[in-house]
Amino acid sequence: MTLLVGSASRILTDAALVALQAPSVLNTQPWRWHIERDTARLSADRSRRLARIDPEGRLLVTSCGAALHHACVTLAAGGVDFEVDLLPGEGTPDALAVIRYRGDTGPSAAAQRLREVIAVRQSDRRPFSGTPVPDEALERLRVTADRAGAHLHLVRAAELLTVIAAAGHAAAAELADPAYRAELLSWLRPPGSGRDGLPVDTITPPGVRPVPIRDFSTAGYVPAIYSDTDVADREARYGIVVTDGDGPADWLRGGVTLSAVLLAATAEGLATSAMSDLVEEPAARVALQRMLGDVGHPAIGVRIGVPAAGPPPPRAPRRPAAEMVEVVAESAPD
Ligand SMILES: Cc1cc2nc3c(=O)[nH]c(=O)nc-3n(C[C@H](O)[C@H](O)[C@H](O)COP(=O)(O)O)c2cc1C
Repeated sequence: MTLLVGSASRILTDAALVALQAPSVLNTQPWRWHIERDTARLSADRSRRLARIDPEGRLLVTSCGAALHHACVTLAAGGVDFEVDLLPGEGTPDALAVIRYRGDTGPSAAAQRLREVIAVRQSDRRPFSGTPVPDEALERLRVTADRAGAHLHLVRAAELLTVIAAAGHAAAAELADPAYRAELLSWLRPPGSGRDGLPVDTITPPGVRPVPIRDFSTAGYVPAIYSDTDVADREARYGIVVTDGDGPADWLRGGVTLSAVLLAATAEGLATSAMSDLVEEPAARVALQRMLGDVGHPAIGVRIGVPAAGPPPPRAPRRPAAEMVEVVAESAPD
């Protein structure tokens, strides 16, 4: 791993470029970065909000939180000292965070490991293998989440019925709504094409799973990478990212924590996919909240497992960097 070198604006630009690999709801990539000398400003691109799925912009802000975490990991891995302000702009709701460069520091080995896996992390919606996830690995993910600013509730066997009911309710309510089906369809892309949205060969038919995943196929596409009638995902584990509050700063922290969990799981050799369907419908979100004993707010679900054998799914594309990263003013070279 090489240290990040050059002027502050160059280093922050590098971090913003790496952060374009962050996960986002339906791969909308709803963020913008503005680099100005020793600051990198992260803003929401609300033109990419999902009007039916995400009317309040929770998942949009959660996605931006994941991008913020990717940028911070890159800086920490590169030996950069920095500070982060959340929601810096009074009265400017699109201003989500500012990263301020402060100089050099020793690179963090933990951050370097996460930086390495940014390039290989991807959503894996295939059924997991039949190998159980080691409990110690799950415990490490839980600790990781606490450090990132929110929490990871690991769903216990006795709670699984609630998660199944929440997923089932979300699927029934959403798929019955033509506006939902139209929105989902508008973000599906033919295999190998596009710059955003989900290429259909990255998705998997729901199949028979104890906890159903989002049914993308109902929008009219033929499922591409898995077809079987066996009950899949028997060894999947489920985590709920839980935030202390339920405002935009909490949604950002939820996204930071989601990214921390996904990258740490990847570093553990585990496969993951996010499940925001669990929190999109109010009744499903309330069911999860009750499951948590009304302590905290469920931000998003995470499906975690040992990956299936065989080649990984194709990668989802990203938008051109020039649309999302703007250098407003460079700092003087070192
Ligand atoms: C806030 C958020 C919500 C998401 N919700 C879902 C979901 O409900 N189902 C799913 O399969 N993937 C979900 N994802 C994963 C995205 O679809 C995925 O990150 C995006 O398509 C980019 O692909 P990648 O993760 O392989 O890089 C979500 C991701 C984020 C950040």
